[in-house]
Amino acid sequence: MMLKADYPLERFSTLRTPFYYYDTSLLQRTLESVRAQTAAHPSWKVHYAVKANHNPVILKQIASAGLGADCVSGGEIQAALDAGFPPGSIVFAGVGKADWEILLGLEAGIGRFNIESTAEMHVIAQLAAERGGTAPVSIRINPDIGAHTLAGITTGLAENKFGIFHGQAEEVIREILTLPSLRFCGLHFHIGSQILDMTDFAALCNRINDLCNRLERLGLPVGDLNVGGGLGIEYGHPNHLPIADFKAYFDTFRSLLPPKYPLHFELGRSIVASCGSLISRVLYVKEGLAKQFAVLDAGMNDLIRPALYHAAHRIENLSSDGPEQNYDVVGPVCESSDVFGKGIVLNECHRGDIIAIRSAGAYGESMASQYNCRPLPPAFFSE
Ligand code: LLP
Repeated sequence: MMLKADYPLERFSTLRTPFYYYDTSLLQRTLESVRAQTAAHPSWKVHYAVKANHNPVILKQIASAGLGADCVSGGEIQAALDAGFPPGSIVFAGVGKADWEILLGLEAGIGRFNIESTAEMHVIAQLAAERGGTAPVSIRINPDIGAHTLAGITTGLAENKFGIFHGQAEEVIREILTLPSLRFCGLHFHIGSQILDMTDFAALCNRINDLCNRLERLGLPVGDLNVGGGLGIEYGHPNHLPIADFKAYFDTFRSLLPPKYPLHFELGRSIVASCGSLISRVLYVKEGLAKQFAVLDAGMNDLIRPALYHAAHRIENLSSDGPEQNYDVVGPVCESSDVFGKGIVLNECHRGDIIAIRSAGAYGESMASQYNCRPLPPAFFSE
């Protein structure tokens, strides 16, 4: 028999679907696992990547656990401040920071601007100077390292839009040191997302070591190292492996980077993915010519990952123990790509059955839209 999520079906049956359901005790256990792996390193700081899920309840729980926040927009900075993240623990990345977003960061006193181009560096320097203050900055380095993950979410290759090419780091640091309204604080990297192969992170560490050695030989400062995020989760096994392998992840950096550098991490998916499911109902079971479809009341506007990246989320019929059958699980949106999975094995589906699309806590609710004038999915939390 299929092992399924242990969810409160009775409560679900009173709620209108679709909605996101978050298991806050699993989130707490995940945060404790992060703490256990990092507690021995007071100079390390984990910043939660707000883009993965900005639900205020989730943000507050993560802020209370003592993590910092990694933001990529003024809206995320405001959400992080509202949730209680200390301003100094907020780092701000992104290739296109608008003036109002930079000013919001300066006014709030955020901990770091990760600059992605020299053009942006000059704008931050000017805005900070006009306010008579200084901006703490790190350089986002493009390390030209690939990650063995979905093509749409690799970020660290020279062809990607992110960061300043690693060969130009020295000239940019030199320039920052001449600008009185900027305070050089360190280097920032991020190679991609949903990475399960630790050799990708090891390759990043090798690149970082080469760069740091070069800078030190030139007598230039390195500051602290922000190695980004990217740790993946086991989408196929949410019931067996609900917590990401934080030990393997942190051990990689612990063993490969010199302890003299303070380390920052920006984990998103690995913190929130497993604790969330998209809950929906079967509207219709439709017999096609060669296959049968389970038509759900949730669509690609609620969870776009399968349509956008061909991401596979485990799908469970929580209402049925009937014989297993194959279904193409689809949504109601008027797009052929509104498919959650093809040839999915589910217990026999009937109209009204409650379906859980698992591991949807990261990049689910935060990427939802109102396409087709559909309402945004609400969120409910375990008690
Ligand atoms: N830091 C930076 C600079 C990033 O760009 C990202 C994610 C993170 C940290 C967090 O990465 P994580 O630990 O979550 O892998 N929407 C896609 C994922 C996009 C990731 C973008 N950057 C998805 O649904 O798979």
